[in-house]
Amino acid sequence: MTTRWSKILAVLLGFLTSSSILWIQPKAAASDRALAQTPPMGWNSWNKFACDVSEKLIRETADAMVSSGMKAVGYEFVNIDDCWQVSRAADGTIVADPERFPGGIKALAEYVHSKGLKLGIYTDAGRMTCQKRPGSYEHEVQDINTYAAWDVDYVKIDWCFAEGLDPEVQYKKFGDAIARASRPIVFSICNWGVKAPWRWGARVGGNSWRTTDDINDTYDRMSLIGFSQSGLAEFSSPGHWNDPDMLEVGNGGMTRDQYRTHMALWAILAAPLLAGNDLRSMTAETKELLTNSEVIAIDQDPKGKQGHRVWEEGGLETWVRPLADGGYAVGLFNRSGQAIQMSFDLKKIGIEHPSKIRDLWEHKDVSAENGAYAADVPRFGVKFVRVYK
Ligand code: GAL
Repeated sequence: MTTRWSKILAVLLGFLTSSSILWIQPKAAASDRALAQTPPMGWNSWNKFACDVSEKLIRETADAMVSSGMKAVGYEFVNIDDCWQVSRAADGTIVADPERFPGGIKALAEYVHSKGLKLGIYTDAGRMTCQKRPGSYEHEVQDINTYAAWDVDYVKIDWCFAEGLDPEVQYKKFGDAIARASRPIVFSICNWGVKAPWRWGARVGGNSWRTTDDINDTYDRMSLIGFSQSGLAEFSSPGHWNDPDMLEVGNGGMTRDQYRTHMALWAILAAPLLAGNDLRSMTAETKELLTNSEVIAIDQDPKGKQGHRVWEEGGLETWVRPLADGGYAVGLFNRSGQAIQMSFDLKKIGIEHPSKIRDLWEHKDVSAENGAYAADVPRFGVKFVRVYK
């Protein structure tokens, strides 16, 4: 072949390949959009308000997320849970409750966006939501496209009224629709751990998946869920998080030490931090629990490696989480009914001479003696420290 002909051929081939790539490539796949590179942070209406949701509540919550300082420390999503939807239109489009959301979801999204925040919504993969509103079964693609058209940024998908359905098959329908949607949408799978979603959640496009049944505002329930999470670390990574359910901090059912346990454990677990209290009327103590930026930095550590339990005896547990800077977060948890001194052998994390140990709740540097860090831990409380290499 002459050089001239080979040049023409090369140009032609180049054109064909580049243009065919353009033709066959779907709109940015969910994985290319690199969503939830750290665990999602925000708020959700369910734990405090249940079905009592409205556009007024969502607007006021967005306002409060900014004015309380929560936005400044990383909280971003304002998520409407169950009960916003009432019916389907003749063409199958989901309809928001016209009394509670008179301006519609799109206008609400615009408002939330104007505050520099993002809007989340809720549906169910089954025939009805848990509160018997219309589910998304057989409307998977239509509903995702509706949310995208409304400029929604996050969707939580529940698993009520899904008898006989396979979660991996059903959730994949949403994952595929989200990958093709006109805007990036964080995909939160909420099937309470049925059929181990940590094994297939990432494969179907999930950014997080609930690992357990619902939390409630008691130390018993919160700790039962939180402390049962050891062993799931290998399934979590940037973009794909285990979700032990939303926060109860500030709802009044636990003491400050118990809520500190809740926050510290969720941070070690690299769990989504979705506040579940009334942001419009927080006490100073609640605000401090939710906006402790040293604790949040553990949850949001860029390495994205979930922590695990390294020791347990008689209601005392030690958990560690490796961090991007080579250090570790260490939680000394006292689940027993009385205050006790606990200690941690720094050899366990291979940092016998740390450059610094920081108490994350007390905001002060502390020290180790003879290669161990020791501290008094209140009943149902935690000593939560960051050990620097
Ligand atoms: C549950 C879910 C809760 C909440 C509730 C709404 O299945 O786990 O987080 O969304 O449904 O009805």
